[in-house]
Amino acid sequence: MKRKDLISLCDCSAEELWEFLETAKQLKIAHKSGQSSRPLAGRTLALIFQKPSLRTRVSFETGMTQLGGHAIYLAPTDIKLGQRETTEDIALVLSGYVDGIMARVFEHQVVEDLARYATVPVINGLSDLEHPCQVLGDLLTIWELKRRIAGLKLAWIGDGNNVLHSWLSGASKLGLNLSLACPEGFEPEAEIIEYAKAQGTQIELSHDPTEAVRGADLLYTDVWASMGEEAIATQKRQAFQGFQVNDELLALADPEARVLHCLPAHYGDEITHEVAHGPQSALWVQAENRLHAQKAIMALLMG
Ligand code: CP
Ligand code: NVA
Repeated sequence: MKRKDLISLCDCSAEELWEFLETAKQLKIAHKSGQSSRPLAGRTLALIFQKPSLRTRVSFETGMTQLGGHAIYLAPTDIKLGQRETTEDIALVLSGYVDGIMARVFEHQVVEDLARYATVPVINGLSDLEHPCQVLGDLLTIWELKRRIAGLKLAWIGDGNNVLHSWLSGASKLGLNLSLACPEGFEPEAEIIEYAKAQGTQIELSHDPTEAVRGADLLYTDVWASMGEEAIATQKRQAFQGFQVNDELLALADPEARVLHCLPAHYGDEITHEVAHGPQSALWVQAENRLHAQKAIMALLMG
C-alpha cells in the first residue's frame, strides 16, 4: 500500500479499504489456525495516549507482538503531548527511534500534525473527530456476519460523534446505507454528511430511533458523552432520553439484525445489558476484530 498514514477514512479509496479488510481476514484466519506470520520482526510502534483505553491499547500491543514487533505505551502523563514539548518535536524525535506511531488524542489537528511532521507512518487511534480503526474493525465484523457490506442498512442511534464521523467517511465508499437518529443539536458535522452523500450512499437523518431502525440490518450505538465531554454529560443524558438500544427497539429492525457498540458501554443509558449480551449482539466479536483489523493496518503501513 502506498499510503503513509491512516488519519481519516476520508483519505482512503474503496480499494484501500478492501485491501485492509482482505488482509485482516487473512491474518485472522492464519492466527486462528496457529500459523505465525512475523512481517514486523524488529519493528517498534509508539503508542501515544491522551485519553484512557482498554481495546485500542491492548489490541495494538498484542497485534505488534503477534506480528513479531514491539510496542511502547506512552501514557498521558509520560510525554505530556503539547505541554512538555511541541507535537512537531515529538514527531521528529520519535521518527528517529520507532517505525510507526499510533496516537489517541483530543484535537484532531494533533494527529494530523503528527502525520505531517513524522517520517514514519502515523495511525489515528481516536480523535475528537474520527475513530477510523474502530470502523475498519467493525466493517470486518459486518462482512464476516453478513457476508457482504454493500446494500446493507446500518441504523445509528445516538450521538453524532467521532465513531459516526468515521462511518460516514468510510462506510459510504463501500455502499453501506446509513440511517441516523441523533437528538436535535447532536447531529454529526454537516460537512461530513455532505462528503458521505457525495460518495453516492443513501443517508437518512431523523430524530426518531423507531423510524431509523425499521428494516435495519445493523443497529449501532455508542456512549452519550465521549471522553473529554464529562462536563456536559448530565446535560446530554437529558437530551438522549429515548435513544436507547433495547429489546423493544431491536424488535422493529430486521429479524436477522445484529447489534454493534464500540464499547465501553454504559448499561441502562445507550444500551441495555440484555441486548449487549443477547443473541443478536455482535459486540464481542466486534471488540476482537479490532485486533485483526489493526494488524492489517500495521502490516500494510509499516511492513
Ligand atoms: N472502542 C475503543 O476504542 O475502546 P477503548 O477506548 O477501550 O480503546
Ligand atoms: N465516542 C467514544 C468512543 C470510545 C471508543 C469516545 O470518544 O469516548
